Amino acid sequence: MDLDLLVLGDVNPDLVLRGGEVVPAFGQAERLVEEARLTVGGSGAIMACGAARLGLHVAVAGVVGDDLFGAYMRDRLVARGVDVRGLTVDADRATGVTVVLASSDDRAMLTAPGTTGVLNGSLVDLDLLRSARHVHVSSYFLQRGLRPDLPDLLAAAQRAGASTSVDPNWDPDGEWDGGLRALMPSVDVLLPNEVEARQLAHISDLDAAMAALRDRGPLVVVKAGADGAIALGPGERVSLTAVPVDAVDTTGAGDSFDAGFVAAMLGGEPLERCLAIANACGALSTRAVGGTDAQPTMQEALEAIERGSAA
Ligand SMILES: Nc1ncnc2c1ncn2[C@@H]1O[C@H](COP(=O)(O)OP(=O)(O)OP(=O)(O)O)[C@@H](O)[C@H]1O
Ligand SMILES: [Mg+2]
Repeated sequence: MDLDLLVLGDVNPDLVLRGGEVVPAFGQAERLVEEARLTVGGSGAIMACGAARLGLHVAVAGVVGDDLFGAYMRDRLVARGVDVRGLTVDADRATGVTVVLASSDDRAMLTAPGTTGVLNGSLVDLDLLRSARHVHVSSYFLQRGLRPDLPDLLAAAQRAGASTSVDPNWDPDGEWDGGLRALMPSVDVLLPNEVEARQLAHISDLDAAMAALRDRGPLVVVKAGADGAIALGPGERVSLTAVPVDAVDTTGAGDSFDAGFVAAMLGGEPLERCLAIANACGALSTRAVGGTDAQPTMQEALEAIERGSAA
């Protein structure tokens, strides 16, 4: 196995507008914002960049258009050392893009999905899949084309000796299944946030929701923002407070956390250490605007744990 991690995921840029009047006005009014910045977006791309920064040999399978945004994403992934053999160009669609209107304490997003959700099983190189030690699925609910093919893909990865993880992220349809329950036997680690965990289990109490999800098979690792994270396995529950940080922008914290967890797990670390490293990676990633600029190396993550601070 020459690859540590294959990410099956969404690859698109975010255009972040911040400062000044970020709330638009119709009636052909022009408002001025302080800054517009194109950044690496898409949970899959952010997770892949985070894992590469942590020293893993990472590849991405995803779809971009034959356009400037697609070229930008390829360029940024390559700059991080991510293997883009599995990145397909769809000449008939535009690369997806999200415009983020970021105020100091909230943000609104406008997304043109474009190539997001277009990846499907026939576009995933099976040799690449079978060469990976771990396969991660980002933004499960956004990946409409891929979802029906995931039971076969993840089972094939596991047969080849890989471990697997899924980050559901939010379900825009509000149904909170979309085949995920049936996929559970092939998922080793499920990585929702608190709200998503409750929604997935259809149970409002977090501990009960995590237990119900764990009973479907996977190790359940729940992200709780500034409160840290909780992991529930077959015979083990670990809860850790967050690593304190002066957060500038929490975009991508969940994906950076996922990268930290997978990197630690592949490094053979025990569960509590995996959670601590993931927490540090999530916290450190919030120090800069966008999802990838402040992602840490493993050395930086370990130092933050040692210091007890990501500041
Ligand atoms: N303000 C913060 N202070 C310290 N750590 C944080 C903060 N925000 C996020 N983190 C760390 O990052 C992890 C993931 O963040 P969060 O819970 O926001 O994930 P998420 O909701 O999946 O995010 P995303 O929007 O990226 O999908 C947290 O579990 C925590 O370890
Ligand atoms: Mg998330």
